[in-house]
Amino acid sequence: MSNFFTEYLKTTDDRLLSKWTQYFDTYTRELTRFRQRPVSFLEIGVFKGGSIPMWKAFFAEGSRLTFIDIDPDCAKLAEEGTTVEIGNQADPAFLAELAAKHGPFDVILDDGSHVCAHQVASFENLWPHVADGGLYLVEDCHTSYWPGFGGGYRNEASWIEYAKRLTDRMHSWYTDQDAMFPFDPIARELHSVRFYDSITVAEKRVKAEPPATVYAQNGKVQLSRRALEIRGRKSAFAGKDGR
Ligand SMILES: C[S@@+](CC[C@H](N)C(=O)[O-])C[C@H]1O[C@@H](n2cnc3c(N)ncnc32)[C@H](O)[C@@H]1O
Repeated sequence: MSNFFTEYLKTTDDRLLSKWTQYFDTYTRELTRFRQRPVSFLEIGVFKGGSIPMWKAFFAEGSRLTFIDIDPDCAKLAEEGTTVEIGNQADPAFLAELAAKHGPFDVILDDGSHVCAHQVASFENLWPHVADGGLYLVEDCHTSYWPGFGGGYRNEASWIEYAKRLTDRMHSWYTDQDAMFPFDPIARELHSVRFYDSITVAEKRVKAEPPATVYAQNGKVQLSRRALEIRGRKSAFAGKDGR
C-alpha cells in the first residue's frame, strides 16, 4: 500500500530511521487527521535523528515538533523548526519542565527506552499535557513480553498490562463493584484505548457530562443517566434499564 510513509522512506538521507513495518499503517490510520492544521507533537527517543525529518515532512508547516532523548549527543540533531531537549523520560521534574515549555501536545509518541517502568512514568506525567482531542502513542510495546524490559507475560508492571487497566479505568463509570472498582477520574477524559501490533493509542476527549442512554420514540428524544446508579444488576433490562 502506498502512503506518505512508503514514499517518504525512499527520500531518507544518512540519518538512520528504524521502525517496524506495521507501524506505518497505524501512523496513517491514527495521525492523518492531524495533518490538516499545525499541531504540537512530541516524540520520546531520537537515536540517530531519522524520525525528525519524517515528522517534519508529515505534519503541517507551522507545527511545533519537540523531541527528547537522554543522550546529550542528540541535541545536535535538531533541525530548523524542531527542538531537541535532553533528559530522562522517567524523570517527573524534567517532564514537568518540558510540558510547561512545549505543551500541551496534540500527539505524543513514546519511542524511547521501551522499558516498561519508563513508559508508565512518561504516560503518568505527560497524559495531563495531552490536548483535548489528542493522542498518546506508545510503540515497541512488545517489550511488555520481555522480562529484561520489566515485562513478561501478564506481568502487572508491564506497559501492556497498564494499558489494559486503562481500559478498565475508562469503563469505571459503569462500576457494579464500587469497593474494588471505584470511579476513576480519568474516565472523564479517556475516550478510547486502541491496541495495534506493538503500538497502543490512548485518545483524550474531555467529557463535560457522564455517558447517557438516549431514548427516542415518536420523535421525542430523552437522555437518562440512571443506569449508572444501578447496582447488582442481573439483566440489561431490569428496572426497564434504569428508567
Ligand atoms: C528507538 S531509539 C529512537 C528512534 C527514533 N525515534 C527513530 O524513529 O529513529 C530510542 C532512543 O531512546 C533513548 N533513550 C533511552 N532511554 C531513555 C530515557 N530514559 N529517556 C529518554 N530517552 C531515552 C535512547 O538514547 C535512544 O536514542
